[in-house]
Amino acid sequence: MAHPVPPALPLGPHRIWPPVVLAPMAGVTNRVFRTLCAGFGGGLYVAEMVSARALRFGDRKTWDSYVDFDPAERIRSLQLYATDPTDVAEAVRRLVGEGRLDHLDLNVGCPAPKITRKGGGSAIPLKANLLRSIVRAAVTNAGTVPVSVKCRIGLDERLVTYRTVGEVAAGEGCAWVALHGRTAVQLYGGQADWRPIAELKAASPIPVLGNGDLFTASDALRMVEETGCDGVVIGRGCLGRPWLFAELDAAFRGDPVPVAPRFGVVMAVLRGHLDALTEAKGEPAALREFRKHLSWYAKGYAIGVDVRRQLAQVSTRVGLEAVLALLDPDAAPAPGSERLPRAKSSSQRRVALPDGYLDELDDATPPPSADHPDLASVSGG
Ligand SMILES: Cc1cc2nc3c(=O)[nH]c(=O)nc-3n(C[C@H](O)[C@H](O)[C@H](O)COP(=O)(O)O)c2cc1C
Repeated sequence: MAHPVPPALPLGPHRIWPPVVLAPMAGVTNRVFRTLCAGFGGGLYVAEMVSARALRFGDRKTWDSYVDFDPAERIRSLQLYATDPTDVAEAVRRLVGEGRLDHLDLNVGCPAPKITRKGGGSAIPLKANLLRSIVRAAVTNAGTVPVSVKCRIGLDERLVTYRTVGEVAAGEGCAWVALHGRTAVQLYGGQADWRPIAELKAASPIPVLGNGDLFTASDALRMVEETGCDGVVIGRGCLGRPWLFAELDAAFRGDPVPVAPRFGVVMAVLRGHLDALTEAKGEPAALREFRKHLSWYAKGYAIGVDVRRQLAQVSTRVGLEAVLALLDPDAAPAPGSERLPRAKSSSQRRVALPDGYLDELDDATPPPSADHPDLASVSGG
């Protein structure tokens, strides 16, 4: 069936084509990973979530390790997490004043207890006035740098907030709203519900991006067809599969989608990935970070339990090469293995909120100031 081809996605002075966005993923979408993915296809590649408060108070690690872009990154895109509009205003003023970015995304969907317990992430849209002040603080201080918002359906099936997020984002002049078709309580379990994406799209004066369970290029085209969304956001589907962006690029252009690579090609990609990480961080730190990527690269290939265990333990490049030498470069991935769980798959957890948070939903006062959580150890979402 011929698929409708969506136009390029406008983002301030930029045009995103194909309308594909690498989802911000804490602990994953650093400079090396973004550059790797961007080498496969067009789109926008968003950096990891950072704390506006950490930026405001000049936390060195946050500024040095997370506001970190490659000179080749044409659109430097960062996601902010905040509970306090003043933190946002100060952080954005400095980021933009120093010319450090070209696009800013606001996280109002994260379900991680460390974040929601302080009133951040998916807790924010429960308080529409607070949400509005946060979005306004970002947009007014961002000047010509476009701002977008990324959310979930709501906290749970009773506390549904995506319509509020859509209204606020449009009212405050955001470039788009991206919606992950799950509630915070659902975490990553079950199947994403794309119907709210379609509903939001039908009502929204600004572009709507759809997110949730896009593991193949045809999933992405199907989401566009079923929801009418203006673009797609790719999370877990590209973990250990950065070539998904080549598949998406081809599919959106109407070209034949490349076949899934044999393991020899995977080995070449993963070696390049590790080389870049090693150059950035040195071998020991690179390998510590790379082990999770290795397990994702190996998913779906019949390599045996023993070798998989060895891969999970490699601590040197030489050791890695010894394990790779055992593997068959002709091995093809098992059909459907792109849907195997990667990184996150758990479901249903109570979402932690600050004490009394639900008592005064009209209140725009930020939750009591608390030290910003150590975002390096948080996996957002
Ligand atoms: C390891 C990991 C880290 C994530 N970190 C963030 C984050 O920092 N900010 C965010 O908005 N979403 C985060 N997410 C959620 C993704 O951006 C995306 O919304 C979610 O994974 C659903 O898309 P998918 O089904 O394509 O994975 C994270 C997801 C994963 C798997």
